[in-house]
Amino acid sequence: MPLQNPKVAFVTGCNGISGNAIVEHLIRQPKEEWSKIVVTSRSPLKNYWQDPRVEFLAVDFLEPVDTVISKLSRSCETVTHAYYTSYVHTDDFTKLRDYNVPLFETFLVAIDKVAGQNLQRICLQTGGKVNGHPAQYVQVTLTDLDLQHYGPHLGPVFCPMTEDLPRYEDQGLNFYYAQEDFMFNLQKNRNWAYSIIRPNGIIGFTPGSE
Ligand SMILES: NC(=O)c1ccc[n+]([C@@H]2O[C@H](COP(=O)([O-])OP(=O)(O)OC[C@H]3O[C@@H](n4cnc5c(N)ncnc54)[C@H](OP(=O)(O)O)[C@@H]3O)[C@@H](O)[C@H]2O)c1
Repeated sequence: MPLQNPKVAFVTGCNGISGNAIVEHLIRQPKEEWSKIVVTSRSPLKNYWQDPRVEFLAVDFLEPVDTVISKLSRSCETVTHAYYTSYVHTDDFTKLRDYNVPLFETFLVAIDKVAGQNLQRICLQTGGKVNGHPAQYVQVTLTDLDLQHYGPHLGPVFCPMTEDLPRYEDQGLNFYYAQEDFMFNLQKNRNWAYSIIRPNGIIGFTPGSE
């Protein structure tokens, strides 16, 4: 059955491994379900989707929020579902927060403002977890970015790491917590819902990878 109101997707980080995979999935869904797919990355598009529903916008989420709002304004007014997979990397993990918190805040404020009442759901991707270790405090030496929600890149953590564990004391360094908290606060006065996905290592193809 076709939906009465087809959904409109907004996928950030579409040159990256997660964003590219989301777009690849969406273009395989019928136009009766997804009528438009706005995709964005900082640099020019590295993939060429031959689907008239796909519209690309080059946006740097580290620019001032008013600049980002004006860049999104024409194309994103009808967005119903926004998938955030933008990410700035630095090898100094203590600096990740300095980039990735404003990156997410600007994305969220801008799409919330532009899509307004049409916005139904935000999907935020954070980092994964590992299982199968004895239940004790251990020094995990893994530095995988995908474990950052649980903090092993910054010091000892409780294992096994499961989704119902309380947050560890991150001393303000875990950017995923700050991203989540910003979204929780904004959502209190909004009608949209959110999902947070926390994958482990992602294996896949993206046209931008070497
Ligand atoms: N990859 C994994 O194995 C994995 C596993 C678990 C969790 N995660 C988490 O999932 C999230 C997404 O990671 P990913 O690996 O999919 O990312 P990624 O492949 O590194 O892609 C990042 C995307 O962000 C864009 N970007 C960078 N700086 C930007 C800016 N200033 N403004 C707007 N866009 C910008 C990049 O655009 P350009 O290419 O156009 O510059 C790229 O499209 C991160 O939080 C990451 O920690 C990743």
